[in-house]
Amino acid sequence: MSHTQVLGTGAYRPDNIVTNADMEKLVDTSDEWIQSRTGIKTRPMTIDENTSDLAYNAALNAMADANITAADLDLIIVATVTPDYQFPGVSQLLQKRLGCRPIPAFDINAACSGFIYALDIADKMLKSGTYKTALIIGAETLTKFADYDDRNTCVLFGDGAGAFVMGRSTENKIKSIITYANGDDQGYLKMDGYPLKVDFKTPKQARPFLEMNGQEVFKFATTVLPRIVKELLEDAKHTIDDIDIIIAHQANKRIIDKAAKTLKVDAHMMFSNIEHTGNTSAASVPLAIDEAIKTGRLKKGDRFITAAFGAGFTWGGAVIEL
Ligand code: ACO
Repeated sequence: MSHTQVLGTGAYRPDNIVTNADMEKLVDTSDEWIQSRTGIKTRPMTIDENTSDLAYNAALNAMADANITAADLDLIIVATVTPDYQFPGVSQLLQKRLGCRPIPAFDINAACSGFIYALDIADKMLKSGTYKTALIIGAETLTKFADYDDRNTCVLFGDGAGAFVMGRSTENKIKSIITYANGDDQGYLKMDGYPLKVDFKTPKQARPFLEMNGQEVFKFATTVLPRIVKELLEDAKHTIDDIDIIIAHQANKRIIDKAAKTLKVDAHMMFSNIEHTGNTSAASVPLAIDEAIKTGRLKKGDRFITAAFGAGFTWGGAVIEL
């Protein structure tokens, strides 16, 4: 059976950087509160670029890294909860903008775990033998759905996109991938859709906002993150000593620190870039992985665990060798 591998990675963040001091002007908060409760200092926030613009730039960077052109792509999957439009999807806009021939291109929504789901789908589609090269992207502009009257949530999010080019491999480089969901019927983390029936009174411009019960999400995240790591190690028949670094979804530094304690691993093993990125949902994991590679924390031949969790509730992870 053929295997798959990561051929290249890329990232893109908007230039506009919003500091905690900027947040203090919007809501009753403080730099001290945000840093001590979340680890966030600054976050990139888009002004005039939409999700497909971020995805496009991340895609170009990943394709350059993999040394391929649009003609080489056989499949595009975009994980996002903040597409430009309900339809067409970000993936379909990208297929055109990148100049690909007609190929399968679709979006998926598994919230902050979306990139892991995309990895899982691409891995299996590549292994089917029908496709040779896939572009998978996590791209979000969550800040356009933040409620800037709600200090509990608006300080947490940033915008960005991260991408992988994946291809087939003769060596087993992707050792394990897991994905799960367990429906959040309490609405602990949600964003409303459109009303089933138009009541003729809803203002045309009314838009949904992200709502979150932070403590419930925190409980879920701190329980599930160590569980993902343990299951991946078991599935890949590895011990923690076989792993160079753990790159988790960057939702909150305290979640990552707590997982390190539960797993009894050195805090240094847990990569974090939340300080200057914030929570970028589906973009979080590929942004962090790309940053780890580009800053030399991850090198060719290194083996890492990536793990994500988020609205849905969804969770998943992978063991990957570069
Ligand atoms: N600035 C100042 N005070 C604040 C702020 C703020 N930005 N936000 C909340 N507070 C206040 C609260 O109002 C509360 O005040 P009160 O005691 O007077 O009522 C106090 O701080 C404590 O609030 P808690 O909710 O208990 O704060 P907590 O320590 O739990 O931290 C946080 C909140 C950071 C949101 C945390 O619960 C968390 O990180 N949860 C997980 C979030 C997450 O992982 N989301 C990821 C998924 S996003 C996605 O999937 C799209």
